[in-house]
Amino acid sequence: MKLTMNLGTRSYDIILKDGCLANLHQFADLTHRRVFVLTDSGVPAQYAQTVLDQCANGTVYTIPRGEGSKCLKVYGQVLQAMLEFGMDRRDLLVAVGGGVVGDLGGFCAASYMRGIDFVNCPTTTLSQIDSSIGGKTAIDLGSAKNIVGAFWQPKVVLIDPQTLATLPRRQYINGLAEAVKAGLIADPALFDLFENGDVDKDIETIIYRSLLVKKKIVEQDERESGARKALNFGHTIGHGIEAVKGVRGRRTNDVNHGECVALGMLPMIEDRSLQKRTRAVLRKLGLPVRTGVDKHKVLEYMHHDKKSGGSSITVIRVPGLGCWRADTLPMTQLPALLGLEEE
Ligand SMILES: NC(=O)c1ccc[n+]([C@@H]2O[C@H](COP(=O)([O-])OP(=O)(O)OC[C@H]3O[C@@H](n4cnc5c(N)ncnc54)[C@H](O)[C@@H]3O)[C@@H](O)[C@H]2O)c1
Ligand SMILES: [Zn+2]
Repeated sequence: MKLTMNLGTRSYDIILKDGCLANLHQFADLTHRRVFVLTDSGVPAQYAQTVLDQCANGTVYTIPRGEGSKCLKVYGQVLQAMLEFGMDRRDLLVAVGGGVVGDLGGFCAASYMRGIDFVNCPTTTLSQIDSSIGGKTAIDLGSAKNIVGAFWQPKVVLIDPQTLATLPRRQYINGLAEAVKAGLIADPALFDLFENGDVDKDIETIIYRSLLVKKKIVEQDERESGARKALNFGHTIGHGIEAVKGVRGRRTNDVNHGECVALGMLPMIEDRSLQKRTRAVLRKLGLPVRTGVDKHKVLEYMHHDKKSGGSSITVIRVPGLGCWRADTLPMTQLPALLGLEEE
């Protein structure tokens, strides 16, 4: 399957096909330039190798797995390695891995010599469904997530569902939360797949439909000034939960992004019966339906989160299946939103 992101001169194709990683050379020039293949230590090495085997002059650079690699230090190390490999403006960076590799790799490509070509080969459900398209690249500064980055569109995105075979189940399910999100805001048929289908059998359709939702939204609003807000559904509270759990646990695998998004979506669904159906879907998937964190701490984090800016906060609500609305609320309404009454 092929999807085209229509973004004028920055348009690109998304290829979704079993085994397509071995055919990257059909979609990008890997012969007449240097190719820097970025991956992480948790991604089975065979995937980066499959890309390297197609390059005339390539190298693989492996960063440590985990969110901790989205930092200035590793960013600097990657740029240094690119320089030492002799990369110039015509060369190419290929990211092979999950959202961590894609976000860091994309930002390295965006900033090295003011921008070189970037190809993304996502290998987790989360990155195949969500983070590999849309052009957002970033690293973290301490606990401030995705605070330094750039909009940088890839030249092509290669999604090979076969790579998911090696993904641990918890990671696999984690990424599906973003697909449930896409269904809730814009695609009832996608939501129906979760209610009545089999996620393993339907995975390619789930990825495809989720990408279609994101594609339509990003094409309307590449730089997040309007419609793209919809994609933040579940993320306002979700980020708060993620921050609090992350701080407590300190280890990245204590908390997964998708799990927090799942929790963040529930209170934002206005229709009671849809909320119940969503809870059942999350349970069926094995995603959490209870936060298990101190909501006061989440509230505290949200108050300090710079992105909320000032005395109001914008949240995305789903009034019914397949539609959404942005609401700007005074910060004083946050406790009620979290199920905490004002004390
Ligand atoms: N740019 C965006 O629009 C966007 C959107 C959502 C999330 N993100 C970012 O994505 C990141 C999370 O991405 P993620 O959930 O993919 O996490 P991740 O990249 O850390 O991958 C999860 C784990 O799975 C391992 N792995 C990856 N592919 C594998 C495979 N095929 N088989 C076995 N193991 C594999 C990785 O080594 C890692 O340990 C966060 O940093 C988040 O901020 C970005
Ligand atoms: Zn997300």
